[in-house]
Amino acid sequence: MEKIIWNESFSVGIREIDAQHKELIRMINELIEMKDAKVDSETISDILTKMTQYAVYHFKTEEQYMRDYDYPEYSLHKEKHTEFKKRTVAFCMDTMAYKETIPTEILSYLKNWLINHILKSDMKYKSFFNEKGLK
Ligand SMILES: [Fe+2]
Ligand SMILES: [Fe+2]
Repeated sequence: MEKIIWNESFSVGIREIDAQHKELIRMINELIEMKDAKVDSETISDILTKMTQYAVYHFKTEEQYMRDYDYPEYSLHKEKHTEFKKRTVAFCMDTMAYKETIPTEILSYLKNWLINHILKSDMKYKSFFNEKGLK
């Protein structure tokens, strides 16, 4: 599976958020590498859990900014985060319970969700926060 390569089109113009997105991308890439290298399932489920925890932390950061600045699409955006959390936590549980490596469909889901979410949903707040002077 191809890894995600961060480029300027992923930038939402806020340093802290860009850094968090880069970290999430790094973790997903690590999962892709491990799957390709057939690393044992325990190590993979460990990284998957860490990635999920980091995603939760990242969503909290975004949602806090949205509340602080009264972002109009807050509820809709938050729902998308919640949906991802629910699915990803379920993936973690399954991976741990059955001690399997991540199925390709799950890894594709995580990868595509992240790319789409940054480029479509997160990008929508770029100009809004920019106008508020957030960098
Ligand atoms: Fe994000
Ligand atoms: Fe988001």
